[in-house]
Amino acid sequence: MEIRNIEKELAWQLRHEVMWPEKDADYVKLPDDDKGRHYGLFAENQLISVVSLFIDGSDGQFRKFATRVSEQNKGYGSILLNHLLVEAQQAGIKRIFCNARREKSRFYEKFGLAATEEMFTKDGKEYIIMERVFA
Ligand SMILES: CC(C)(COP(=O)(O)OP(=O)(O)OC[C@H]1O[C@@H](n2cnc3c(N)ncnc32)[C@H](O)[C@@H]1OP(=O)(O)O)[C@@H](O)C(=O)NCCC(=O)NCCS
Repeated sequence: MEIRNIEKELAWQLRHEVMWPEKDADYVKLPDDDKGRHYGLFAENQLISVVSLFIDGSDGQFRKFATRVSEQNKGYGSILLNHLLVEAQQAGIKRIFCNARREKSRFYEKFGLAATEEMFTKDGKEYIIMERVFA
């Protein structure tokens, strides 16, 4: 198993397959993707999980975190997210945040992220902004 920096196109494939298979492939592309750092976790050379980091000054946001459906709940996403948090700290980020699907907030709490009071609904899904401030 290894984690590599990947091109945005590879991230798009898994994002589409996992997060929004019912939408057009373009739906998962972000205007900021050219500025993002995209990470992929591979097992036996197959891409299993992706996440993207966007840095804005001392703030970092991770977005579009997705694990291949057949490989979920095996710990891969946690390994990838821990890697991203280390990378974010090494990049000098002071605050990391994400727009978490509400049902995933417990998961992010395990990584030291806490729910803020900011919430919103998009495409019928409820989101809550979660953050962690690095010491
Ligand atoms: C969110 C997501 C990326 C997590 O990836 P993952 O690879 O499944 O993550 P993990 O396997 O590390 O953890 C998932 C759960 O499995 C549990 N788990 C981890 N290893 C495990 C193991 N060996 N055996 C059983 N359970 C395990 C974790 O504790 C976690 O439980 P929780 O959700 O109750 O907190 C994945 O569920 C996904 O792609 N979801 C669809 C897209 C999405 O919702 N993205 C996030 C938007 S905020």
